[in-house]
Amino acid sequence: MTNETHVWWKESVIYQIYPRSFADSDGDGIGDLNGITDHLPYLAKLGIDVIWLSPVYQSPNDDNGYDISDYRAIMEDFGTMEDFDRMLATAHRLGMRVVMDLVANHTSDEHVWFVESRSSRKSPYRDFYIWRDGHDGEPPNNWESVFSGPAWEYDEASDQWYLHLFSRKQPDLNWENPQTREAIYDMMRWWCDKGIDGWRMDVISMISKDQRFPDGQVGPDGYGDFFPYVVNGPRVHEFLREMNQEVLSHYDLLTVGEAGGVTIDEAKHYAAADGSELSMVFQFEHVDASLNEPAPLVGKWGTGKASMPKLRAILNKWQMELEGKAWNSLYWNNHDQPRVVSRFGDDRPKWRVRSAKMLATCLHMMKGTPYVYQGEELGMTNRHFSSIDECRDIEELNIWHQAVEELHMVTPEQMLACFDHVARDNVRTPMQWDASPNAGFTTGNPWIAVNPNYAEINAAACLADPDSVFYYYQRLIALRHSMPIIVYGTFHPLMEESEAIWAYERRLDGQTLTVACNWTDQPQPCPLWDDEPGTFVIGNYDTHEPGILKPYEAYVTVR
Ligand code: NOJ
Repeated sequence: MTNETHVWWKESVIYQIYPRSFADSDGDGIGDLNGITDHLPYLAKLGIDVIWLSPVYQSPNDDNGYDISDYRAIMEDFGTMEDFDRMLATAHRLGMRVVMDLVANHTSDEHVWFVESRSSRKSPYRDFYIWRDGHDGEPPNNWESVFSGPAWEYDEASDQWYLHLFSRKQPDLNWENPQTREAIYDMMRWWCDKGIDGWRMDVISMISKDQRFPDGQVGPDGYGDFFPYVVNGPRVHEFLREMNQEVLSHYDLLTVGEAGGVTIDEAKHYAAADGSELSMVFQFEHVDASLNEPAPLVGKWGTGKASMPKLRAILNKWQMELEGKAWNSLYWNNHDQPRVVSRFGDDRPKWRVRSAKMLATCLHMMKGTPYVYQGEELGMTNRHFSSIDECRDIEELNIWHQAVEELHMVTPEQMLACFDHVARDNVRTPMQWDASPNAGFTTGNPWIAVNPNYAEINAAACLADPDSVFYYYQRLIALRHSMPIIVYGTFHPLMEESEAIWAYERRLDGQTLTVACNWTDQPQPCPLWDDEPGTFVIGNYDTHEPGILKPYEAYVTVR
């Protein structure tokens, strides 16, 4: 039994659009808002409830829109505010809500706040950002930015340094300053009043910094680790409760905080059931699990693959420990995480479809709000990188420069092998719509090359094949809408000693849903249905043999 409050965002499935790579309507090689509007019927057909749009605001695109220069304007590449309004109205008309990306840990250095802030130590905007004195020409501390190199940039004119946890074109906002916070809240109200339905909050666990700015532990590349002084920082929950009071509580919103480094105990605050902060968070434990098997060569860059038992232990723990206290988000993929069928599944042609469906079942039958990243519903795969020239992401370009060219820590071949595994560009290749040139994404030159496998893996092919990954996702989503047990049932792990099968039960009002997924390419014994066969709910084979799960079989029943 559960006494969970019933809310729409618990009953929804979210689809993430990375606008740059989704659909280009005007042939400039870059996806845009009209391209999204054109494809809304496709998303309605899939059955999704909510679209999360990665940033569409005005931006010089140092980090593909995660560097915003005007929160109240649309990026020229993507269209106009009228295009946005039309997209929003069309989505609403088709019964889908729209969640925007709130990037408020930092802005672009081209944002007027920063231009003002930089103009003089006396500027009223000086304190909107984090400025500190250096020491004998050295930065204020040894922190390394996420995108390589020092996390501080020197400003000669005012002889101070500003903090940028990401690129030097992404200066961190100073959340200690109440005026900064009010300016952000004001901007959020503006969008909420426009009728958007929620926020995905970029690196929200990093907005409150330890004001002593201590040096971090030094890593092999000579820089210090900022994590302990920034992640889940001293005032983060205070700030979020304030934001909730000031903005969120006045609207009916879905809010999800991107919370790298969040622990279960922290998540119980961020996503508390009393609604005092956010609806839910994205935790990173499962997607980071691969990073240590074997250890990466440098930073996050390795070729590891987490074992199923390790992933299972992590997600089962999140399922059980948040029960009744906080709400889970469920995701394998997003615009920062490699394609799931390549990363945790089996993308060989023989198994790709089966494996993609199994992974989807395993995640979508859990308790929480599932997120589908564009192309995941087609079983899209990672790409192969044969040269740095194929990369577009600032994270890849910077680590290449630092670890390959400058410090000679890894060879080009080693680095490219790591890119094949974890580069963000794996998920940023254009959406594969059909088998026409450039996968039907653009009639021009795509800003990033399409994955060469688009002739076989594309939406048109999926829509023509009743047995495709697309229709399987459609069924999973429809089941969530029709079976309250999938939304509200409690979670109970099964067969935790198995090396091959990830199984669990969901229970609600005397009903039991049984889910079992074979994570291997071999048949595996599975005794779960020996006593009671149950009623079939979904599976990725036409037939199920008692006592056995076929390679990558997923099987779900209810009784
Ligand atoms: C997290 C976003 O998901 C990522 O794409 C971005 O580069 C950083 N935050 C900086 O905004």
